[in-house]
Amino acid sequence: MLPRQRPDIGWRDLVHAAAYALRGGDRERAQAAAEAGADALAADGRRSLVSLSVRSGFDRLLATLQLPPGSEVLVSAVTIRDMIAVIEQHGLRAVPVDVDADSLSLDERALAAALTPRSRMLLVAHLFGSRMPLQAALAFARRNGLLLVEDGAQAYTGDGWFGEPGCDVSLLSFGPIKTATALGGAVLRFADPDLRERVRAAQACLPPQATRAFAQRVGKYALLKALTARAVYSVFCRACRVFGVDHDALINRSVRGFAGGDLFQRIRQRPCAAQSRLLLRRLRAYPPARASARAQRGERLLSALPLARPGRAVAGSGHWVLPVLSEDPPRLLAGLLERGFDATRGASSLYPVPGDAAPGVGDLRRAMAAVVYLPAPEGEADLRRLVAAVRATVADAPPV
Ligand SMILES: Cc1ncc(COP(=O)(O)O)c(C=O)c1O
Repeated sequence: MLPRQRPDIGWRDLVHAAAYALRGGDRERAQAAAEAGADALAADGRRSLVSLSVRSGFDRLLATLQLPPGSEVLVSAVTIRDMIAVIEQHGLRAVPVDVDADSLSLDERALAAALTPRSRMLLVAHLFGSRMPLQAALAFARRNGLLLVEDGAQAYTGDGWFGEPGCDVSLLSFGPIKTATALGGAVLRFADPDLRERVRAAQACLPPQATRAFAQRVGKYALLKALTARAVYSVFCRACRVFGVDHDALINRSVRGFAGGDLFQRIRQRPCAAQSRLLLRRLRAYPPARASARAQRGERLLSALPLARPGRAVAGSGHWVLPVLSEDPPRLLAGLLERGFDATRGASSLYPVPGDAAPGVGDLRRAMAAVVYLPAPEGEADLRRLVAAVRATVADAPPV
């Protein structure tokens, strides 16, 4: 059974992570070292702030900005629920702006239509591992006095990209399901060093993440990594079936960075020293060839399939996840599972942001109900077998 996704971290990194947790150490120093490391690698003149997660950093950004209640944040109409929850928690209104399903870029007419005198910020999400061109959004934000925040949570690949330097703030995530994961942590990049200082000060008031919680996280993802080894995963899926457990829901629940409990209590923490150290290690040592091989395989897979896909007009996507559009998602999932491939509908927690903004021509929100995420092939043989399995399922041929 090919699992949908394995944590993108090696055993050696996990051993280092455990050692960092045992060592403890000075939180401030470790955070500052990770920030200096990110600044040196990005070398774009912007300044970094390390947070516990993108949601944590974005929450502190909004706490710092103190926008008037009822101010509007124009947001990509497809993003994760928690980003909208953070906006609303600060008394602001999220106004969805349509995303084109082919280019995964903001629809410029929808952007103009969403603008009101209360608009203060534009939050643009790069989706599925692609990086949309931001020139138009940048020009729009400048013309209308909006702070441009780039949500690059899905877009980091270790290739030297640290966000679009023209953006006011870029958000990069190193959460458990991300490329080059540090099992948590985020890098926020600021064009304005003064704003960065103020957000840093707002973060410094938060309680620290307990080193023990970080250590538990290391244990949990080591277990998940072992469980998603192919042979073990097949047994796990079979056992779930025998005991009537929905393995899809179980896995999706356990890979969430902040599952259960009060979201704000969980995100309002600053990283412990071990978390910052692991983040720095991943920034410095992640081999970019790994992500580029994955991207190439992803592109070859998706273009060989008899299924439409969101982002089909995007060149050079990192293919962090592999979404296709199915007329009958449950049937595609079941057919692939029978043939040894663990696809899912819930790989990324993306959802269509509710709201009355007029949909554009290629509305991604409407397409989201049809999205199925394919498992990432680990080599040529996987790729060929997966293409054959999708074709057979679509043609409804009996499993081979
Ligand atoms: C588009 C998008 N924004 C924000 C986030 C949140 O990132 P973090 O887990 O670092 O808070 C995610 C996480 O998956 C995401 O996909």
